[in-house]
Amino acid sequence: MEFEHISVMRHESIEFLNVKPDGIYVDGTLGAGGHSSVILNSLRNGHLYAFDKDSEAIETADKLLKSISNHYTLIHQDNRKIREELARYGVSKVDGILLDLGVSSYQFDNSKRGFSYRTNARLDMRMDQESSLDAYQVVNTYSYEKLSKILYEYGEEPYARLIAKKICEKRQIKPIETTFELVDVIKEALPFKQKAKKGHPAKQTFQAIRIEVNQELESLKCILKDGLEMLNPNGRFVVITFHSLEDRIVKLAFNEVVNGKKSIKGLVDLNQGTKKYRLILKKPLIPTEEEIATNPRAHSAKLRVIEKI
Ligand SMILES: C[S@@+](CC[C@H](N)C(=O)[O-])C[C@H]1O[C@@H](n2cnc3c(N)ncnc32)[C@H](O)[C@@H]1O
Repeated sequence: MEFEHISVMRHESIEFLNVKPDGIYVDGTLGAGGHSSVILNSLRNGHLYAFDKDSEAIETADKLLKSISNHYTLIHQDNRKIREELARYGVSKVDGILLDLGVSSYQFDNSKRGFSYRTNARLDMRMDQESSLDAYQVVNTYSYEKLSKILYEYGEEPYARLIAKKICEKRQIKPIETTFELVDVIKEALPFKQKAKKGHPAKQTFQAIRIEVNQELESLKCILKDGLEMLNPNGRFVVITFHSLEDRIVKLAFNEVVNGKKSIKGLVDLNQGTKKYRLILKKPLIPTEEEIATNPRAHSAKLRVIEKI
């Protein structure tokens, strides 16, 4: 299968990153390299460090980027390790960071990766295929309490308890092995009125399990904290999110450093002091109707930008 992915808000995000030809930039979510290629095209003596947990993404993007220039380094690692990974190259400060969160279309549409409720595959959902935790383990070994908490918190699934209960019942008879088996269990658990609603009934449960498998929110909090600290003056942090949980974390972290008020979760270290950052966009930017028409994956995207003063 070809590694295909249409970058969301590609030009807007790079414009907001304000790339300086000699600057140091980080793409924390390389994917197929769509955003990275635009950054690289804007560099002269600068350098791009790009992270992806998925070795197939690294391989694909490398082919694209090497046709542009050699001013880049690809890092097969979780972007939460930004500080220690860049330290290996003697880099402690950067001029800009971009995150385009979530899974790529390639990962989602590739039936072997087990991300989608629309194709049948072994329950997997790992962005990093070397990671030990996969969706099979979450579904078949997590306790009822842990499962219902994840479905409620990461999927915002109102029927989290019913679904977790049904999963626990079914797996006692035999393990739930595939995406379609899980979809059937979810459909059996949900009340009729819920199944009749618009949207796939397994969407929220699959989102929740994917977030757990890839520890997506933990990674986001880490890179926000370290990344904000690592920005040079005038350096920018641009984030594209795809659901309210991610967007809320970004919004709170940016507001914390701008206003110097700890939010409920205390996401970032306020010893950085106040008035050291400013929001470039007061409200998040959303894609145009035209973009959504050509790339439906963009429909829930929100772009936020902050700058170190
Ligand atoms: C939406 S895609 C990025 C697409 C890319 N911007 C492009 O234009 O092609 C997200 C990518 O980031 C990777 N990813 C997500 N979270 C990550 C993390 N915490 N660390 C490293 N890579 C991550 C995924 O494996 C996926 O390939």
